Amino acid sequence: MKTSRIAGFYKLPAADRLRMVAENAGLSEEEAGAIGGSGLSLSQADKMVENVVGLFQVPLGIATNFVIDGREVLVPMATEEPSVIAAASNGARMAVAGGGFVTSSTRPVMRALIQVTGVDDPFGARLSILARSEEIAARANEKDPMLVRYGGGVVGVEAKVVETRKGPMVVVHLLVDCRDAMGANAVNTMAEALAPFIEEITGGKVRLRIISNLADLRLARARAVFKAEEIGGPEVVDAIVLASALAESDPYRAATHNKGIMNGVTAVTMASGNDTRAIEAGAHSYAARDGTYRSLSVYEKNRDGDLVGSIELPVAVGTVGGATRVHPVARANMKILGIKSADDLGRILASVGLAQNFAALRALATEGIQRGHMSLHARNVAVEAGARGDQIEAVAAKMAAEKKINLDRARELLSEMK
Ligand code: MEV
Repeated sequence: MKTSRIAGFYKLPAADRLRMVAENAGLSEEEAGAIGGSGLSLSQADKMVENVVGLFQVPLGIATNFVIDGREVLVPMATEEPSVIAAASNGARMAVAGGGFVTSSTRPVMRALIQVTGVDDPFGARLSILARSEEIAARANEKDPMLVRYGGGVVGVEAKVVETRKGPMVVVHLLVDCRDAMGANAVNTMAEALAPFIEEITGGKVRLRIISNLADLRLARARAVFKAEEIGGPEVVDAIVLASALAESDPYRAATHNKGIMNGVTAVTMASGNDTRAIEAGAHSYAARDGTYRSLSVYEKNRDGDLVGSIELPVAVGTVGGATRVHPVARANMKILGIKSADDLGRILASVGLAQNFAALRALATEGIQRGHMSLHARNVAVEAGARGDQIEAVAAKMAAEKKINLDRARELLSEMK
């Protein structure tokens, strides 16, 4: 990767942008071709899901300006929402003067959950489980020797008694280091295989055996300093800190605040061929982990008067298995990201989430988001009215200037042009 800061990138024709990105990332002709249009074939799709009849396309853009742990990263984002990619690029640009994004992460540990009902002595059974945790771990590891060979496998066994409206249940958690896999297959296989042994230990009946998407042991964190002079001055710093304070305490604001974070996180997750629902479930359940739904990010003012943003979220993503290796565009996107592991991808997700969130808060705390949104919306309306080529910008600009953005006006302007 030469640089992620490509001035005027957004002004280039799409084909030129792709050429630059391909050159930067060393994509083969085939990989660039996949991104540029050949994409996923019907026969490949037919092997991925059931009852395939076609393909549903979503725009893929590249967010620029990301410097993550000192490395320049171009970030592929798949999203249908206008202004998301521009906002991420802007947010990332404003972090550069403060050194870019600095990340950290935990080990890639996922939880498998085993539900046991009909236990006469649930508290006693809990202790019996814990007493045999080594044996439980060894039996689970036997199910995935490859994972163990790569340095993963079971790292712990937890057991608790959960009070429910159907009485107490024993719930066993198998903690598994999944290395570069997202891990659902690995941990579900282990949990299913353990069922008879858990029944033997507890005397109860094992029911659910499934991953928990509250991946609170597989976290990525990112931090960035946004210099006051880069982002519009001390008033903007204070306004963003106030916006953050509200999202930290009020679930109604936190939901939208986190939605803004996920605009970026989900788009990169999608572009990498990973499971977007797992990431969403993890993020939102983690946001509510202490009983109140809160923001995933926090903004503070440091001693120099600059804004410090930080984010922490679960990142259940993989770089092996699933669509990540099957989908030709996802594979090429991984190459653009220049990542070597699922951990690298998780750290990028956290950084993009923070950039996306910062850009939204900055817009909200200053002029509001509608001006930027409306000019992009105007382009979509122009296209819907039938504008093509240069007409799109001309019609959109006129409607935005008039502050009158609707289909009728777009059609009028178009017929005047013709
Ligand atoms: C829109 O997709 C996302 C925002 O609403 C996020 C936010 O309010 O922080 C702009």
